[in-house]
Amino acid sequence: MILYFSGTGNSRYVAQVLSQHLHEDCYSMEDNHPLRPLEDNETLGIVFPVYAWGVPRIVRTFLRHMTIGSRYVWTVMTCGDDMGHADSILEKTLRRKVDAAFSVGMPNTYVCLPGFETDSPALAQQKVEHTQRQLPLIAASIGQRLRLRQLTRGSHAWAKTYLLRPLFQALLLTDRYFWVHDRCNACGLCAAKCPTHDITCTDGHPTWGHSHCTGCLRCFHSCPRRAIEWGRFTQEKQQKGQFSPRTAAGVHC
Ligand SMILES: Cc1cc2nc3c(=O)[nH]c(=O)nc-3n(C[C@H](O)[C@H](O)[C@H](O)COP(=O)(O)O)c2cc1C
Ligand code: SF4
Ligand code: SF4
Repeated sequence: MILYFSGTGNSRYVAQVLSQHLHEDCYSMEDNHPLRPLEDNETLGIVFPVYAWGVPRIVRTFLRHMTIGSRYVWTVMTCGDDMGHADSILEKTLRRKVDAAFSVGMPNTYVCLPGFETDSPALAQQKVEHTQRQLPLIAASIGQRLRLRQLTRGSHAWAKTYLLRPLFQALLLTDRYFWVHDRCNACGLCAAKCPTHDITCTDGHPTWGHSHCTGCLRCFHSCPRRAIEWGRFTQEKQQKGQFSPRTAAGVHC
């Protein structure tokens, strides 16, 4: 079984490709229907985007109460750049080691601070194509139940995960700074798409609930009017583009 969370489609794409290679069924962590029980000796895959060199809150909440036992567990983490020690945060959540852990580069989605931009179409394409070449090899390693780590931790990985991440989570992973332009046409899509049901629409226009947001920026990236901003620094930023059909047929957020 593969469990995944995806804010804007990158991790869902990776989960779907691995599901095809491994012939495993694939479930989104944001679906409400109950999971089928894991069979004895069945492997468990966990796919998610790295947030602040760690694990998104929605993923930690979902996994915290799962009983995983001693089965083979693997994870693929998608990241725009580097993932720090996100695998250790996952292991703390699961209360056990994972047997195999991989990180893959995908188009960046974080845009809320100065210096953080979505990738140019060329760079996004380059990242997706590189990951497309990696995924069959990753699937082969998982198929053989190898125990290994292929991770892009980046520089100052420990400090990023254990010093910066708590600050980032406390101060910046919040929906308090979202606001909406007049060009919002009250279509309601942001509320319908929010994975944590954090957005409600009053007269069609969104307001954020300040309690459940997992920081995925799906609302920002998927607004058809580009009407959502977060704080002061997103106004010049681009939304993440969709994958082109050539690179990932049929995959949309
Ligand atoms: C709140 C937030 C924090 C992020 N933090 C990191 C990070 O620490 N390192 C990184 O390389 N990418 C980071 N990213 C980028 C995402 O991990 C990356 O774009 C990922 O592939 C998005 O996957 P998705 O489309 O499945 O949501 C962050 C994105 C968001 C929204
Ligand atoms: S998706 Fe955009 S245009 Fe539609 S209601 Fe939300 S903010 Fe307004
Ligand atoms: S409010 Fe926006 S950023 Fe927060 S969980 Fe919903 S879609 Fe994601």
